[in-house]
Amino acid sequence: MDDTNTYLAWRYTRFGPVDQVLKLERLARQEPAAGAALVQVHHASINPLDWKLVEGQFRLFMKSKPPCGVGTEFAGVVAALGPGTTGLQVGQRVVGRSIPARQRSSALAEQVVSPVDQLVPLPDTVDSALACTLPVAGVSALQMCRMAHVQRGTRVLVHGAAGGVGHACVLWALQLGAEVSATGSADSQPFLRSLRAQHLIDYRQGTASSWGGPFDAVLDCVARLGRHDLAALLPRGGHAVATLPRVPGVAFDPLLNPLRAIQRHTLMVKSSRADIATLLHALEQGTFVPRVTQRVALADAVQALRASRGGHARGKLVIEVRAP
Ligand SMILES: NC(=O)c1ccc[n+]([C@@H]2O[C@H](COP(=O)([O-])OP(=O)(O)OC[C@H]3O[C@@H](n4cnc5c(N)ncnc54)[C@H](OP(=O)(O)O)[C@@H]3O)[C@@H](O)[C@H]2O)c1
Repeated sequence: MDDTNTYLAWRYTRFGPVDQVLKLERLARQEPAAGAALVQVHHASINPLDWKLVEGQFRLFMKSKPPCGVGTEFAGVVAALGPGTTGLQVGQRVVGRSIPARQRSSALAEQVVSPVDQLVPLPDTVDSALACTLPVAGVSALQMCRMAHVQRGTRVLVHGAAGGVGHACVLWALQLGAEVSATGSADSQPFLRSLRAQHLIDYRQGTASSWGGPFDAVLDCVARLGRHDLAALLPRGGHAVATLPRVPGVAFDPLLNPLRAIQRHTLMVKSSRADIATLLHALEQGTFVPRVTQRVALADAVQALRASRGGHARGKLVIEVRAP
């Protein structure tokens, strides 16, 4: 196989730690089916979901089993379209989200095949390294703010505010006109300051009851806050959104909330072209600019996944697949 008919992709054939099971493989070029596009990836961004899937943390829910690709959000250029496919053109810049649990074509690769209805055109003025952080982390932040009814003047606490989703929550809530308090470790304080949240908190200093408030909304991006913490932070009717499910679980929140003083919600981020387009527009306007703190080459993606697994990422880690 010559290089024009092949591409490099990170793959795993069994579940396990990223540095043991991930291999950079050369695969035969994929041909998109009707309704799909082949995208030459320029940038992809790392999310905790990536290494959780590789480790098999969701193996009971995965529709496809290894061998699988890895990586979820990407930006690049349409290289080919499936037969009769309309809506995009070859050469067009796009941003999108692959669902590695459901499809074998994933973002940490030189090429990805995606349904065209999962791709959003990328304006010429938008940097693809920033755009590739929108489909998961950016959309999560937007949907968390929506679930918590964040608007102008809302007093918001973002817990775990230095991470990919947390920093996007700070930036999106500020963009909406909220008054934002942000928690992070002592090491994260300079980064949080750069986001321009109004109030900064070191979560290791004191309990939640000493973090100020009352708030109208708590966006818990690490799902660490318990019932007593939320009771100390929120008045009756306040909203708490967490990024990970808690007992008794996602399905029960709508049933239990009418009986609760605090309205609890769990994010299950939904693919949304409209939400990506909203974020792209804000990125173009300069009112929402995610922070890429580290860029690594595709060959070094395992290093980035290991850094994410360490649990103290700041902003977004981006994989540079190919110079645009
Ligand atoms: N349900 C969904 O649909 C959905 C969507 C997106 C993400 N998620 C999940 O949400 C979580 C966060 O995602 P992410 O992309 O933001 O992760 P990330 O980029 O790895 O960020 C993690 C952040 O957590 C902070 N942190 C670590 N330990 C903490 C603690 N004990 N208390 C408070 N903060 C702490 C760290 O900040 P410091 O260094 O300052 O401690 C770090 O910046 C992940 O578990 C991810 O899988 C779920």
